Amino acid sequence: MSASRRLASVWATGQHAQRTQRAGRYSAASTEHPAKMPPALAAHAIAAYSGPGDLVVDPMCGIATTVVEAMHLGRDAIGVDCEAPWIDMAVDNIDLATAQGAAGTGSVLCGDARDLPDLLPVSAVGKVALIVTSPPYGLYGHARVRTYTGPGRLAATAEHPFVHRPHPGQLAVGGPERFATGLAEVLTACRTVLKPGGFACLTGRPYRDSGVLIDLPGQLAATAAACGFDLYARHIALLAPWTEGSLRPRHSFFGLHHARRLARAGFPAHLNVFEDVIVARRPR
Ligand SMILES: C[S@@+](CC[C@H](N)C(=O)[O-])C[C@H]1O[C@@H](n2cnc3c(N)ncnc32)[C@H](O)[C@@H]1O
Repeated sequence: MSASRRLASVWATGQHAQRTQRAGRYSAASTEHPAKMPPALAAHAIAAYSGPGDLVVDPMCGIATTVVEAMHLGRDAIGVDCEAPWIDMAVDNIDLATAQGAAGTGSVLCGDARDLPDLLPVSAVGKVALIVTSPPYGLYGHARVRTYTGPGRLAATAEHPFVHRPHPGQLAVGGPERFATGLAEVLTACRTVLKPGGFACLTGRPYRDSGVLIDLPGQLAATAAACGFDLYARHIALLAPWTEGSLRPRHSFFGLHHARRLARAGFPAHLNVFEDVIVARRPR
């Protein structure tokens, strides 16, 4: 495939519920993370954009879904997250993958993704074949449940470590401008550690902020291009199963409830059935 050729395709990554995908493979405590990447999505991206024995890195790894899936696919993987509680869970998940005979190795580091070149072992810098990550785009992402408190107003339903006493580097808090600056710094760091021709798979979906639709996938692609990546492909990773010729949205009771309330109040709310995957490549 030529580096300039742009590809688009739909990945059938929602055939099984995330709970089923994680059963026996992740610790029960992992459910505490509010914005996990579906394991099938991570596995599909890793299988498509790296080979056995390659080094895969997730600079914002949460409970290490990408690291665990990479290990099971025979890749060596390193995850980074700035929040110590997620790193503790990530270690448990990596230990579980190792105990289950995963062919690859996995490790995690607690730190700021913007410092990635300094955090990784020197021997890994410039050798990474694939970055795969889902950025922390704030309080509205990943189908977080919100409480509708009146026209145009939404509030969080529960306190959460994601928004409570965050690490100073936490990019999920601080607003869109801080996120935009931080994302560019993280992608620049990713570009430094990738080998020439290496890929970065960035996942995200559009979200609403104060009623305004934010095109996060477009932001990911534009920021990657501004940071010196070539845009290589864009995929649709399904979160819902495709059965008998149609998509069947998979949603929580609360997700459905809130979407209905928002729709009744005049917000054009819908349930997500897919996540965008932007694939960028470090030029050779
Ligand atoms: C969308 S979640 C990723 C979840 C992960 N894919 C999983 O399946 O668990 C984004 C993560 O980025 C982390 N994060 C935010 N800012 C960071 C930073 N500056 N450096 C490292 N991690 C950061 C958050 O703590 C959060 O766990």
